[in-house]
Amino acid sequence: MNCIKYLSLSAVVVLALACTGQKKAGTIGADETVEARVEALLGKMTLAEKIGQMNQVSAGGDVSNYADAIRKGQVGSILNEVDPVKINEFQRLSVEETRLGIPLLVGRDVIHGFHTIFPIPLGLAATFDPALVEEGARIAALEATAQGVRWTFSPMLDIARDPRWGRIAEGSGEDTYLDTRMAEAMVYGYQGRKADTTSMAACVKHFVGYGAAEGGRDYNSTFLTERQLRNFYLPPFEAAIKAGAMTLMTSFNDNDGVPSTGNTFVVKDILRGEWGFDGLVVTDWNSMGEMINHGFGEDRKDVAEKAANAGVDMDMMTYGFLSHLEELVRSGAVKEKTIDNAVRNILRVKIMLGLFEHPYVDVEAAKAVQYAPTHLAAAQKAAEESAILLKNNGILPLKGQSRILVTGPMADAPWDQLGTWCFDGQKEHTITPLKALQERFPGQVTYVPGLRFSREKRDRFDDVVSAARGADVILAFLGEESILSGEAHCLADLNLIGSQSELLAALKATGKPVVATILAGRPLTIERDLPNCDAVLYSFHPGTMGGPALANLLTGEVNPSGKTPITFLRTVGQAPLYYNHNMTGRPYQGETLLADIDLEAGQTSLGNTSYYLDYGAYPLFPFGYGLSYTTFEYSNVSLDKKEYGKEDQIAVSFTLANTGECRGTEVVQVYVRDLVGSLTRPVKELKCFERVELNPGENRIVTLQIPVQELAFWGLDGTKKVETGEFQLWVAGDSASGEPLTFSVK
Ligand code: GLC
Repeated sequence: MNCIKYLSLSAVVVLALACTGQKKAGTIGADETVEARVEALLGKMTLAEKIGQMNQVSAGGDVSNYADAIRKGQVGSILNEVDPVKINEFQRLSVEETRLGIPLLVGRDVIHGFHTIFPIPLGLAATFDPALVEEGARIAALEATAQGVRWTFSPMLDIARDPRWGRIAEGSGEDTYLDTRMAEAMVYGYQGRKADTTSMAACVKHFVGYGAAEGGRDYNSTFLTERQLRNFYLPPFEAAIKAGAMTLMTSFNDNDGVPSTGNTFVVKDILRGEWGFDGLVVTDWNSMGEMINHGFGEDRKDVAEKAANAGVDMDMMTYGFLSHLEELVRSGAVKEKTIDNAVRNILRVKIMLGLFEHPYVDVEAAKAVQYAPTHLAAAQKAAEESAILLKNNGILPLKGQSRILVTGPMADAPWDQLGTWCFDGQKEHTITPLKALQERFPGQVTYVPGLRFSREKRDRFDDVVSAARGADVILAFLGEESILSGEAHCLADLNLIGSQSELLAALKATGKPVVATILAGRPLTIERDLPNCDAVLYSFHPGTMGGPALANLLTGEVNPSGKTPITFLRTVGQAPLYYNHNMTGRPYQGETLLADIDLEAGQTSLGNTSYYLDYGAYPLFPFGYGLSYTTFEYSNVSLDKKEYGKEDQIAVSFTLANTGECRGTEVVQVYVRDLVGSLTRPVKELKCFERVELNPGENRIVTLQIPVQELAFWGLDGTKKVETGEFQLWVAGDSASGEPLTFSVK
């Protein structure tokens, strides 16, 4: 074991931590100089040139395919080109061969790294480490902007409560507060704390409610009320806008019958009106055109009108603006001042990124930035912190076992461990768990995959079983390929796919200790596999450096600290199941389950509460859950007051002790419940978290501060405010633990 045994004097340290990063409302930080430049340029533009700025094209392939359109001033932005030589040529055409020389905005889906790939965003959320996530986004920006990409379609802020949804991989899970902290971190990381040529405009997406697709089927309709939007789905976007996000993307879904790309209420009234957003709003890929499929518009002209009048600035790949806006303006269906505002938003972003001064990149210099050792080190740290220890009977960390069997379809899958939305990651740079373990334990590792890929079906595993007999410990790397999550890749069955469970059972039958490491894009339903595993380490596709990270975690070089950013279900039939649900009038109390039901049971003998006869109402692992190689104990939890005013700060103090034998980090979490409100309120909501690292035997007094204003919600009267009354507060290492304290707000 690599942990050092020692006793430290109990240290008393007060950590006064503000748990909110709330920023001033409003704009993307433009000043009067920028505004003057915007107005001066806008004043010179013809209507056709203005409309050209509102058109974005996907420009993979030969530059010549787009040269004519660019020269005509019909392209304001391109996406899907990352070759710096081609990007320079695209920019040269726009800057040197058009009347006004307005540079292009070059966009790309840089979702969790550009070349150096970090864990998928769901894994990044599992770190509960905004500073690390910001560092990762900064590294992505350094690599991408060096090649001329100055706009990323990230962070994705869609709250997701249904793991059947493939894009759950791409967001920060089910919790609004965690999502908000991750959103701010990525905006700061991408754009930089100061604007320069490494600033990459963030694009908060998908606005709004996309993750609530009915049935977890991508692109499906959502039915979120205004109060649900305001209390759960909009706050991360509002925080990201306040953090200075320069752009936003509308979503594919129709919410309550209105597709977002034509939704005046969310785009014009809330985003522009209430929040004062003056950045760029872009549609999703042809989401304007898809409003025809939705039956929300007759044809491209109709949907172009609806999108423009809703407040959309740029059209991704419908060509609706380019084809119809001039006619719509001539007819008065769309006012030219609407066009002017859209173009202002576009020019503002281009000016703030410095594109007019620096439209070109240094192709040679760009090469040295990619995969820099410091980038790889940061990606490894992120992969280490994102892994979640779900089960451990003591077999981990490895204790010098000399004969190691490595098996499973994800042990040596350099492309798939990069995860979904990995356009520019290169598998040649990936270090897989197998490679890392072979390097760590030369001559001690036997590799028998058992399954070539996760979906493979096999009914016998003689080769693996035979190898297992000669091993001291079995390390099985299981899960799903990257293509099984992500956009449009939803699953109705979340069990380990193919014959992976059968492989585990065969391994268990050998009597050797089995450690399962699962690499996936979503929380899979692994209850049936747990009996066959002595330990389970869960890694949401960990990226380029996943191998060394997982090796460090398995050997104890690094102590796991990840926490579940999403509820792990016992079975997919429980979906959706999330921690911050309402109490209902009949909360589950652990009632009768199927096995206990008598024959000819009378109707009144059953539970009469909100649960399933076969699976109850509790998850396999709750939100915020994760084990460590050490143990932590919370004690002396106290509040500085019993009663608070609405402008007060709640100071919660507690002693955290490392009661185990190894240094470790605990993500301490603070949850609050509003006992009685003008609306029914969640049974608890995360309001603060902090990573606290302790030596074995060390005690630390921690104090966390939460503004009472964090308890505000959008109530029955349609305003957001803190309501007076009684509250409960928990401090714990996950959403299902701890005993509540009570306090009141007067
Ligand atoms: C996709 C996605 C969106 C992405 C865009 C450009 O369909 O929905 O998230 O940014 O197209 O690739």
